[in-house]
Amino acid sequence: MAIYTIWNNKGGVGKSYLTFQVASEYASQHPEKKVLVVDLCPQANSSSMLLGGMINGEETLSQLHGMVPRTSIAGYIDDRIASPYQNPRTGTQYLTSVSRFNHSIPNNLFLIAGDEQLELQAPRVRSATQPGPDDAWRLVHMWIRDLIADIVDSWDDVDHAVFIDCNPSFSIYTELALCASERLIVPFSADGSSKRAVRSVLALAFGVSRQPGQLQSEFFRGTQRAQMNRPKIYMYVGNRLTQSYYSSAAAFKMVVGEIGDEIYDVWRANPNEFSIHPAGSPLPTNKKSFKAMFQKEVGDANTASVVSSTLGIPICQMTSGTKVVLRKNVVVNQSQLDKQAPNIRDLVSAIE
Ligand SMILES: Nc1ncnc2c1ncn2[C@@H]1O[C@H](COP(=O)(O)OP(=O)(O)OP(=O)(O)O)[C@@H](O)[C@H]1O
Ligand SMILES: [Mg+2]
Repeated sequence: MAIYTIWNNKGGVGKSYLTFQVASEYASQHPEKKVLVVDLCPQANSSSMLLGGMINGEETLSQLHGMVPRTSIAGYIDDRIASPYQNPRTGTQYLTSVSRFNHSIPNNLFLIAGDEQLELQAPRVRSATQPGPDDAWRLVHMWIRDLIADIVDSWDDVDHAVFIDCNPSFSIYTELALCASERLIVPFSADGSSKRAVRSVLALAFGVSRQPGQLQSEFFRGTQRAQMNRPKIYMYVGNRLTQSYYSSAAAFKMVVGEIGDEIYDVWRANPNEFSIHPAGSPLPTNKKSFKAMFQKEVGDANTASVVSSTLGIPICQMTSGTKVVLRKNVVVNQSQLDKQAPNIRDLVSAIE
């Protein structure tokens, strides 16, 4: 079993899109396993895509949010606000079998749907970390780990993988996700501000400071105090790379190269924060072998990506031809699919 969090402190780098593509493709490559997506983002973008996209997915999400109990992450968080330090073991009540609503998704993929109500609950989650028993902080930071354990226990011995989508800010939910996961996947885009975002992930989650005397995050200190698990860095994904990146465009390559160098320096200083994979592989000994293990690239599939997310059809399942999107005909070319589907397959085959 492996639990992956997909997070970058920068917005719009493709966390939700990749969660959707990667979890679907992982489920398809591993029909013998069960796959769980936990959507910890109030915007619920990955849930919406998984459940069928802009029209069907949104409608299903509204239905789930209208059920009693509310069949989403917010339903579970309500239980935990009522019982912060005693695990009520109610996690399985909030699970959705995605293929019931979206036939493009394999039937071994399950979802704890996202919910905008998370925003309203956040102050109460944060305040539960403070009063109460001495280990209140630790117990609250176990909530998502508890949720996943409830679900995985109900699956008996079936092998599984878990993907957690986060919102960009370092919210209490991102903290809970990091404490629940073993491995971190960091998507980034080929622009200057991604470099700062990569640094900020390292500082906030791993306490990697760049200047002497720099404050460490409360989260990092909390995990140290409570001797809690933090994930290991599993992969950086340069996402949405355009044709110009692959052809020549030195500028794009330079930016991705810069970010790669930055990450390589972090590896040299803190190798223990990284997860060597696949299991049993030798440690990377130079930049090339480091990059082969830890850095992936996903192209921009233009129209095909828009169709994929709007209709909730994973890019690796999509065929070329005319699709009806919002009552209009849209043509998806094979060449667009080829810009991304092989990258997603390759990325997923590197996920254990
Ligand atoms: N590889 C890609 N090719 C084409 N479009 C992409 C790709 N990755 C992401 N997108 C698109 O870019 C936009 C932003 O992606 P997404 O919502 O997944 O980012 P995010 O990091 O989850 O954002 P937020 O920080 O708001 O949660 C979306 O419209 C998505 O469909
Ligand atoms: Mg998102």
